Amino acid sequence: MIHKRTLGVCYYPEHWPEAIWAEDARRMAETGITFVRIGEFAWSRMEPKPGTYDWGWLDRAIETLGAAGLKVVLGTPTATPPRWMADTLPDMFAVDKQGRPRGFGSRRHYDFSHRGYRVECARIVTAMAERYGVNPHLGAWQTDNEYACHDTTLSYSPAALSAFREWLAQKYQSPQALNRAWGNVFWSMDYDSFDQIGLPNLTVTEPNPAHTMDFRHFASDEVVSFNRLQVEIIRQHSAAPIAHNYMGRVTSFDHFKTGADLDIASWDSYPLGFLSDRLDATPDHKARFLRQGDPDNQAFHHDLYRAVGRGRWWVMEQQPGPVNWAPWNADPLPGMARLWAWEAFAHGAETVSYFRWRQAPFAQEQMHAGLLRPDSVSAPALGEAAQVARELAAMPDAGTGAAPVALVFDYASAWAWETQPQGRDFDYFLLVTSVYRGLRALGLNVDILPPDSADLSAYKVVLIPGVATLSAPLLDALARYKGQALIGPRTNAKTAEFAIPVPLPPNLPGLSATVARVESLQPGIEVPLQGGGAIRRWHEVLEGDAEVALTTADGTPAALRAGAITYIGGWLDETALGHLLRATCAAASVAVTEMPAGLRRRDTATHRFLFNYNPGPVTFDGVTIPPAGVHWQAL
Ligand code: GAL
Repeated sequence: MIHKRTLGVCYYPEHWPEAIWAEDARRMAETGITFVRIGEFAWSRMEPKPGTYDWGWLDRAIETLGAAGLKVVLGTPTATPPRWMADTLPDMFAVDKQGRPRGFGSRRHYDFSHRGYRVECARIVTAMAERYGVNPHLGAWQTDNEYACHDTTLSYSPAALSAFREWLAQKYQSPQALNRAWGNVFWSMDYDSFDQIGLPNLTVTEPNPAHTMDFRHFASDEVVSFNRLQVEIIRQHSAAPIAHNYMGRVTSFDHFKTGADLDIASWDSYPLGFLSDRLDATPDHKARFLRQGDPDNQAFHHDLYRAVGRGRWWVMEQQPGPVNWAPWNADPLPGMARLWAWEAFAHGAETVSYFRWRQAPFAQEQMHAGLLRPDSVSAPALGEAAQVARELAAMPDAGTGAAPVALVFDYASAWAWETQPQGRDFDYFLLVTSVYRGLRALGLNVDILPPDSADLSAYKVVLIPGVATLSAPLLDALARYKGQALIGPRTNAKTAEFAIPVPLPPNLPGLSATVARVESLQPGIEVPLQGGGAIRRWHEVLEGDAEVALTTADGTPAALRAGAITYIGGWLDETALGHLLRATCAAASVAVTEMPAGLRRRDTATHRFLFNYNPGPVTFDGVTIPPAGVHWQAL
């Protein structure tokens, strides 16, 4: 897919005196910015009193930006319902797992299931779409802001309870069918009517995992329908593309399903915040990449959101300097605001938009850097953004590069292994990203695929770690597959009802293999493998007639293979995974390159890019790349 690459910035005209808007707009244009995202938190200024709108300031802000040649990405403000709404809808707040309503005074204080709140959302979105849907300066829409942020997907409210009961009634039609599917005979949990079913919180010990899993599917569907309501309204009034800004390492709803209703997937990339706040890594790794961010974490999300956006994706918020919300907030190495943007472009991003234009000296994010300091003097990232803009002018079009390898990602599997980890550190996201890291270390382009993919024929190697239940289309595709599929551990381990299938897993086409039993292993315990490396965290005892592809040091099978399909009975450490990936790529005629630590590669349709995440220079292929350096050459 060929498209133009552009830069953007997030801007809050309501935070600044109107007198400086024109100068801000001029400086944005001078920097080489194309898109300005506005509006997503401004509900109290759009509608200061119930039903009393004030669009004048927003009209003028859009006009001012447009007059400077900028395009606007207009956010619907539904992540920040104003205080007055709490008076009319006092029960619109989400309720936490302990049953406590969440309060007013920050953001995202709404319940996805509250039908009255949805009416309010439909009203404000309709008013905006009618007013701005054909505005000449409108470039795109953004729905809401970061669904799920601040742990807001799950709510244990009365609104959620009644919507969940309806959802269950639709799905099962009768309480008897639900009892059978969940296995409610266990512990006398049978229900006689849907109205008796509660939410899976505040139980004495763990609730039935099938109950929890249905609640997770339900909660995800609520996000999807909440988003769809806005999309349908906007489309009645506007032809501009619609995006949502997703997050890093957030799996609490099925992004592929929201993505199907949107035109563009975007995500908010904070490499240093994520390194400090939500990366499983050693202290040494965190120290080494302190000012650069993890070399693979952004790339993984770029590839994931390219899949969620079915090819069209942006970075809607790009870290420009220190953030305010991580445990520690480091200053990026000079050059990283440029490198992060180029890595996104190399993965096919259409737009990279920095968050935010000017650091706000007030309220919650006063310690969060912008492209400008609070006194309007340029912060370091402004010059780097301008450099990216100049570089883009010389190389404006990008094709997304083809990948020989695909990795299946499934949100419901994240819920499955949170619901029933069976070992404290069995984390689906970690499992998938460990495989992704292994592929990146071999210099490979990777595509991420949704779990219902029906055609794998474009890929020479496909990996499916930890997918709890394989979909019918994916099983069909595997039956026809001619490449190399590496499947497991813990793949196809559950039925759709969240029970253990009989015959026992993995039940893969053409493979005589049975997971006879499983064990989880605490940190420090491992099962060594012949040829080097080990199984950690999760180990399966395999039986079957298939060819043994990996063997433990004491001679039991660790992976079984037949034709295109290899099933792996354990969580492989880096060494074992590396061996298996190299051997599999060799068998599939995929060329690999051993990348130096911290140096990463990505091919577009036209260029080969190298990114140096190390704190020092690296020499590779005859080129020396400085720290935070980006190198590219035509293919
Ligand atoms: C994002 C959010 C922004 C801002 C930013 C700060 O999660 O969408 O509104 O809060 O983080 O890094």
